[in-house]
Amino acid sequence: MTDDNNKNSADPKAFARQLVLRAAEPYRQAGSYAWHFAKGKLGGDPAFAGLLARGLLTGRRRILDIGCGQGLLSSWLLAAQASASQGSWPAAWPAAPQPEHVRGVELMQHDVDRADRALREAVAAGRASFACADMCKADFGQADAVVILDVLHYVPIAAQDDVLRRVRTALAPGGVLLLRIGDAAGGLPFKISNWVDFVVTTLRGHRLTQLYCRPLAEWQRVLTGMGFAVQAQPMSEGTPFANVLLVARVPERQTSD
Ligand SMILES: C[S@@+](CC[C@H](N)C(=O)[O-])C[C@H]1O[C@@H](n2cnc3c(N)ncnc32)[C@H](O)[C@@H]1O
Repeated sequence: MTDDNNKNSADPKAFARQLVLRAAEPYRQAGSYAWHFAKGKLGGDPAFAGLLARGLLTGRRRILDIGCGQGLLSSWLLAAQASASQGSWPAAWPAAPQPEHVRGVELMQHDVDRADRALREAVAAGRASFACADMCKADFGQADAVVILDVLHYVPIAAQDDVLRRVRTALAPGGVLLLRIGDAAGGLPFKISNWVDFVVTTLRGHRLTQLYCRPLAEWQRVLTGMGFAVQAQPMSEGTPFANVLLVARVPERQTSD
């Protein structure tokens, strides 16, 4: 291990900054926009470092990322795994995730193309895959963890619930859903995030008429009703948004479906 690695391993913030560069690097081969976007999103969104610092994907072998965009979560987890295997990992963090496969499902073909181009080695090695599909129709297969970051609110409430029910079926006993939502009861920060989201998503080629949001308590009620054990964690540090990460666990032993 080099001195730099030791330094970064001791300081989680310095380590996370290095990991951003490492995870963004493959996007150079997908073009300048993809690379700059990767650096900005991985470094600016607290979810990426937060998932690692809280150990939320530790021990999960099959990970499904719904609404994966250009595959940033896959690249992030691959970079984390590679760093840890080289002996560079913050001592204060739980063990690095060691996924066997990260599968992304994404509506926009141009994002899937960027993911495939950037992560072509991981795709060729069977470590990652990306499918262009609508989450409302896609086959979710089987997974140990499902991640849905800022995606469900693009479809109407009934369709959201259908996705969640199919996620519940796809998850193995003991599996986890990491669902980030905007809390519609979150006041001004929620309004800001909704406005930014609507503008950015329209610029990226979506034809939206509205976003379908609900208060945190309603999300918790719905997930609990589907048999998840739900814990809410704030996930908008350093941003002006009202985002919450719902950690929804499937019981180890299911008594009913
Ligand atoms: C705000 S971005 C979040 C991207 C990624 N989850 C992240 O956190 O970096 C939302 C993503 O969901 C995708 N999306 C929206 N509706 C979808 C649908 N019906 N099926 C699959 N993906 C969808 C969008 O194209 C976009 O890439």
